[in-house]
Amino acid sequence: MAQQKALILPKPLGSFEVGEKPIPSPGPGDLLVRVESAGLQPLEWKIQKNEHGLSKFAEPYPAVLGVDIAGTVEAVGEGVTRFAKGDRVLTQGHVVPDKAGFQQYTLADTDFTTKIPVGLSFDEASTLPSSAISAAFGLYNPLPRGAGLTPPWEAGGREKHAGKPILIFGGSSSVGQLVIQFAKLSGLSPIITTASPHNAPLLKSLGATHVVDRSLSPAAAIAGITSAPLTLIYDAVSFGETQHAAWRLLAPGGVLVVTLPPVFDVEEGKSEGKTAMQVFGIAHAPLPGQRESAKTFFAALEDLLKKGEIKPNPVRVLPGGLNAIPEGLQELEEGRVSGQKLVVHPHETQ
Ligand SMILES: NC(=O)c1ccc[n+]([C@@H]2O[C@H](COP(=O)([O-])OP(=O)(O)OC[C@H]3O[C@@H](n4cnc5c(N)ncnc54)[C@H](OP(=O)(O)O)[C@@H]3O)[C@@H](O)[C@H]2O)c1
Repeated sequence: MAQQKALILPKPLGSFEVGEKPIPSPGPGDLLVRVESAGLQPLEWKIQKNEHGLSKFAEPYPAVLGVDIAGTVEAVGEGVTRFAKGDRVLTQGHVVPDKAGFQQYTLADTDFTTKIPVGLSFDEASTLPSSAISAAFGLYNPLPRGAGLTPPWEAGGREKHAGKPILIFGGSSSVGQLVIQFAKLSGLSPIITTASPHNAPLLKSLGATHVVDRSLSPAAAIAGITSAPLTLIYDAVSFGETQHAAWRLLAPGGVLVVTLPPVFDVEEGKSEGKTAMQVFGIAHAPLPGQRESAKTFFAALEDLLKKGEIKPNPVRVLPGGLNAIPEGLQELEEGRVSGQKLVVHPHETQ
């Protein structure tokens, strides 16, 4: 059986090692994808370090991680008609050894795969799967799995929410950049976000109307921007301090979307009609309706990318292929990545 290089996590709390494993064969409905670019995200260091008890997410070990994938279709499984050998695709993988991105070849589920339009590189495409689905699910899934807005890909969804403000904590994060762009497509206004000032030009180019220095008190800054009630807040970074600030700022009847488990007292705001929900931007998660919602989303994404209405994160490619991933994850853990997505090329692995 042909072999490939993969970054293997042998056990929970173990160290990553580059090793060899067989190239899998695509089953019915699957694609075999040559991974050209793999994006890194905080989930991977959290699994390795068992943050929030996430080690068990990758069971059984040895595990292969990496869910943000762009590459070329190498072969198609039985029954696949939408994709063909040679197509350039992005796909959200899974932390299952044959479906993960930190290796040279992976299996992809066609329902969670989108063709990459001309003009978008593999590196750029690999920044999108998890951040785009997390942004969209948080805004558009029905309550209690999202804020219940009408998605822009549905009839009448474009700019439907004109005049409704949104506050986004962490607009320069990978997820935050996508929330800004979907908010713009939905007509939300003003689009206020917190970030370091050096990221303001990027975030304004994506659709933010106001960028508030994240080292300042958001309440004071927002009071000077809008007097409309803040009934929609998306905390893309969801640190303790941002979650508490967001929950306090949320107006009665409002919805707060968080990307990590809530650290505030969710019950406390119920008498005012406040709702908080944690988004699950993982297509493969075994939740009710998740597969159907993810399938609809990845189908809609193709058109949004083709029209240039959704743009990727700025990319920083780490040299060294799979060997570069542990250092990249360390950078993410230490908060040293700003406004960029770290990407590796698995076929550069020595
Ligand atoms: N629930 C889900 O399905 C799901 C999916 C994806 C991600 N996540 C989680 O969502 C979080 C974000 O992931 P990501 O990949 O988007 O992160 P990321 O791109 O690595 O985040 C880096 C950014 O965080 C910003 N930041 C740091 N502290 C901040 C603060 N106090 N206020 C505002 N911004 C701050 C930085 O902004 P500046 O440089 O501008 O200061 C930086 O640009 C992570 O915790 C991740 O695990 C959850």
